[in-house]
Amino acid sequence: MAAVGDARTRRATVREDAAKERDANAVTRAAITRHGGTSALVNPARVDSTPADPALAGSAQVDAALADSALADSAQVDATLAASALADSAQVDAALADSALADSAQVDSALADAVPVDSALAHLPLPDPAFRADVLAGLSRRPRAIPARWFYDRRGSELFEDITRLPEYYLTRTERSILSAHAADIASLTGPGRAVVEFGSGSSAKTPLVLSAVAPSAYVPIDISGEFLRDSVAALERQFPKLPIHPIEGDFMHRLVLPAALANQPRLGFFPGSTIGNMNAPAAVDLLRAMWETLGEGSKLLIGIDRIKPVNVLIPAYDDAQGVTAEFNLNLLHRINRELGGTIPVSAFRHVARWNDTEARIEMHLEATRDVSFSVDGRPFAISKGKTIHTENSYKYGPRDARLLLRSAGWTPIGEWTDREGLFGLILAEARAIPAAP
Ligand code: TRP
Repeated sequence: MAAVGDARTRRATVREDAAKERDANAVTRAAITRHGGTSALVNPARVDSTPADPALAGSAQVDAALADSALADSAQVDATLAASALADSAQVDAALADSALADSAQVDSALADAVPVDSALAHLPLPDPAFRADVLAGLSRRPRAIPARWFYDRRGSELFEDITRLPEYYLTRTERSILSAHAADIASLTGPGRAVVEFGSGSSAKTPLVLSAVAPSAYVPIDISGEFLRDSVAALERQFPKLPIHPIEGDFMHRLVLPAALANQPRLGFFPGSTIGNMNAPAAVDLLRAMWETLGEGSKLLIGIDRIKPVNVLIPAYDDAQGVTAEFNLNLLHRINRELGGTIPVSAFRHVARWNDTEARIEMHLEATRDVSFSVDGRPFAISKGKTIHTENSYKYGPRDARLLLRSAGWTPIGEWTDREGLFGLILAEARAIPAAP
């Protein structure tokens, strides 16, 4: 039995490391919210519970994935268990018991043989079971699609920051210029003394613009990563020493309870970056309703929504001359190879950005430039030349579309600003009770 004890200790240690790694990933994911505010897409817990993304792994699916994986190989058993989110040892044991290793003698000897695992894992990123489940399911379905949140590992987050500074990527700088050009106007419509609640928090260049414009009573950044919150709060405290800041570490896709200190203060929600455009309409309405519930009737919401515009402006924003967006998209395949033991020939794929006029969205795909076959986590896949993996959507809204979207969730638009060319829209809306009639 000593072998089992040692193996359990080892599994526990590796699980701890896995938890640290996941924390590190959370920091990376949160970092992205500073620039584009994409945290709604990149937080696993949040995306898992989004109706728009039903294929994502719940723990039952994770269990199933474990049960049907190649559990026969003991090294893989340890690695799979160690990497999984099944930190609870009862569940781990149950997964083992389910497997072909049900007999404890077999467990003993299998685990005892698995000694090299620690050293093998020491230099490999630990796979996230939800990532594994999404990738395997996404490559198996037709059309092939992998949820966009997996873009944001450390490298992906860096590349995304680079995207926001590209000459072709008009969104970030246009939204910022609208905010500064119309700060006084926005402030007169919101009125002073509101608690500003930022969803996805701390867009470093945009938050101070709003805070200095609207003379807020308090600032509430909401983000899934506590570590990121602490950083951005420290920076803002230096810049706004008299402003009370109440960070909330949490998932803004669901109704949240605001700090008691805000009880009698009117609120202003802030959701920049056209992150709402990375959700389909039902998911976008769900999120806007959750924001309504969090902020309450009478609250206001300042939201950035990118506009429909000529394809010759849209496409380059998602397929730039320097190839940064291509690298960002292709990094997903590198990540699969790195973290899930994939053998994808990345050079046989190319980045494609398409305008889907029916859906009014930019789509990003990875297209096979020849017939390819590869494996991910030991599973074989084949993609024929010209077929794609769909990786991201960015919905665009005409001014009326954007206002309808807001009204669908109980938000009545009361102000709207754009740039000279009408590239991007900034809308101020008010949370009103939905009238029963007429
Ligand atoms: N919401 C922004 C947009 O749709 C940022 C973004 C999310 C993005 N995913 C992306 C930009 C992928 C480029 C590529 O543009």
